[in-house]
Amino acid sequence: MWFNRMTLEVWFDTHQFNVEYDIGESAVKFLTVDDLDIDLAEVALRYGHHTGDPKLKECIATQYSGLTGGQIVVTSGGSEGIFALNSALLKPGDHVVVEHPNYPSLYEIPRSLGCDVSFLPLIFENSFKPDLDRLESLITPKTKLISLTHPNNPAGSMISEDELRRVIELVEKHDVYLMFDETYRDLDFSDPLPTAASLSRKVISLSTMSKCYGLPGIRIGWLATQDQFILDSILTIREQITIANNSVGEAIALHVLERKESFLERSRTHVKKSLQLVSQWVENQPQIEWVPPVAGVVGFPRFKEEITFDPEDFYKLIAEKYKTFVIPGRCFEMDNRYFRLGFGATHDEIEQGLRNFETALGDAG
Ligand SMILES: Cc1ncc(COP(=O)(O)O)c(C=O)c1O
Repeated sequence: MWFNRMTLEVWFDTHQFNVEYDIGESAVKFLTVDDLDIDLAEVALRYGHHTGDPKLKECIATQYSGLTGGQIVVTSGGSEGIFALNSALLKPGDHVVVEHPNYPSLYEIPRSLGCDVSFLPLIFENSFKPDLDRLESLITPKTKLISLTHPNNPAGSMISEDELRRVIELVEKHDVYLMFDETYRDLDFSDPLPTAASLSRKVISLSTMSKCYGLPGIRIGWLATQDQFILDSILTIREQITIANNSVGEAIALHVLERKESFLERSRTHVKKSLQLVSQWVENQPQIEWVPPVAGVVGFPRFKEEITFDPEDFYKLIAEKYKTFVIPGRCFEMDNRYFRLGFGATHDEIEQGLRNFETALGDAG
């Protein structure tokens, strides 16, 4: 049992603070405390409740039909939620099915815990949608957990409500758990899916303030489930790693979620326009093809096969010479011709980043 560094985070560490045009990030452009109109003077900097501030949990629970605040665990970002759930549920030798590509922690953590991980591939030619017959064929008697992310990072794809319900029938039939990462749910360009934890006791929903609200710095996320065994198990893990949450982060999350619709409206309006900018650009690039994202704040284009340069050299060139940041496909264990394009940044930043990308393409040949 051992943990490896995540290639994705190594890439972030190397370049993120040296670039000026971030068109790789997977969040709406971060806000500042000033943007929030919040008074933090009275926030008590004491240890908080182990599973999160009860008021915050009640507020989060309103998104989960049929669930109460007691069925929410607030975590230090979605990342702690992923870690806590996997380590609470899994033992070495257990089998886990994870959609791929995906946010890498979703497969790195079960691997590091000594589990066998099977990928359910999301394929470009199938618009990055999961094949549910294939999903069922991957389930074995040792399968404990299925892990899906929609809207997907990095692919920007969605499953339909019917497909989600079919996945739930599968997990109930095979008596396995489903972790449904709905981090980007509030940035669906059509009607969002029902929150998955509301649909079955076998489902754990994961979400975070980091992406749709542009608040990764407050490090607040959560897990929601009707399953008491899972709630108790998560608590045992969290007592060993963070005990409680950052109280300033919890206060900010509550303030924002109490005004959820106005914050989300701002994000949605921004992202819709950004997506138009990025789509027009991609469609005019003879060397690039993509599946247009249908939700979220990222897409996963690829260079066509005939390119004559090494994509890795190109990603380094645009980061180092043009101060422009995208994420190489290898960071998602994908062919490096793919790259993640994020469209959460300001429109000026996106436009300049795309111009830089094109100039660098000229350099690359
Ligand atoms: C799908 C998905 N889930 C979870 C996370 C982790 O979120 P957080 O930054 O809140 O820890 C990320 C971050 O990129 C993500 O993309």
